[in-house]
Amino acid sequence: MKTTNQQIILSGIQPTGELHLGNYLGSVKNFVALQDQYQCYFFLATYHSITENYDPKEKRRQILDLTASYLAAGLDPKKSVIFNQTDVPECTELAWIFNTLTPVSELERMTQFKDKSAKQAANINMGLFDYPVLQAADILLYHANLIPVGQDQVQHVEITRDISRWFNNKYGQYFVEPKPLLTHIPKVMSLVEPEKKMSKSAGSKHYIALSDEPEVILEKLKGATTGMGTEDTLPPGVTNLMTLLAEFGSPQQVEYFNGAIKAKTIKYSELKETLAKLISDSFADYRKKKKALLAKPAYLEKVLKDGAKKASKVARKTIAEVKELIGVSV
Ligand code: ADP
Ligand code: TRP
Repeated sequence: MKTTNQQIILSGIQPTGELHLGNYLGSVKNFVALQDQYQCYFFLATYHSITENYDPKEKRRQILDLTASYLAAGLDPKKSVIFNQTDVPECTELAWIFNTLTPVSELERMTQFKDKSAKQAANINMGLFDYPVLQAADILLYHANLIPVGQDQVQHVEITRDISRWFNNKYGQYFVEPKPLLTHIPKVMSLVEPEKKMSKSAGSKHYIALSDEPEVILEKLKGATTGMGTEDTLPPGVTNLMTLLAEFGSPQQVEYFNGAIKAKTIKYSELKETLAKLISDSFADYRKKKKALLAKPAYLEKVLKDGAKKASKVARKTIAEVKELIGVSV
């Protein structure tokens, strides 16, 4: 455990599919940078993931896949506590306690709940509604201060702060009030609908997965919308591609394409080919590492079990203290 900085970092991702550039630039890249300076917890939000329609036969593979993705992206189990949420049941216990403090009206305001309810109208389950309360429990169980997430999760960190305050007002000062920690690109946009965020759920044409092979990356970028801007604004699709170029390319490349846009000599095929090469080179090592890790499921399981042991120590202490504070432990 690190002692150099007292701040605790925590974040989670649902094991539902491949990590994409939005996940990486909005959160995972930050995870990797933060683990050298802070005590970090990075987990798999498996209980959150079952609030969506899913195939139980697929879940184990998805859990191992996300674990391999975390490690291939640079998370190090010697530096960070990496674990599966379902191995630390205290989070669901704490969520129940938080349920008794959370007004239904506050959960009804959550934009993710509204969006997901529209997408899965035949399965608007209580878990989907209660999702932010479980997220608050994930965070507060470990007294985390900083939560590296993308823009879309900020509202959930804000309700976590509210829940912390409601608890402290009722039972006495105990929980911290965590803050979201954003990267400089908190919202990467979809390739084909650049008014919307890049997301797994929209379909594979919308995103570039970190494990996409070079030909697939090129193919997807070729299909990316560029569209027409106005005299002084760039179309959102072009802005998105230029944001990616600034991230993966050199200042000279950015200057070159910016110049071509201004001079109206821009060839989008050239921009897309340049970008495809930069992105695929940048994740060549990730692809190689991930394939090797997926061939070692026993190792991935061990990483999760070791992480769960460390997380459980903190979780058990918190739950015991909380039960004492709320007067239910005899
Ligand atoms: P998805 O919407 O593709 O299912 P998740 O909900 O699993 O992605 O998100 C995991 C993490 O990645 C969260 O911290 C989330 O805020 C971040 N994230 C997701 N999509 C984007 C995006 N397009 N841009 C920036 N960050 C994102
Ligand atoms: N809701 C987050 C997402 O969809 C996942 C998550 C669950 C999370 N619990 C968390 C993120 C706690 C940060 C902290 O991406």
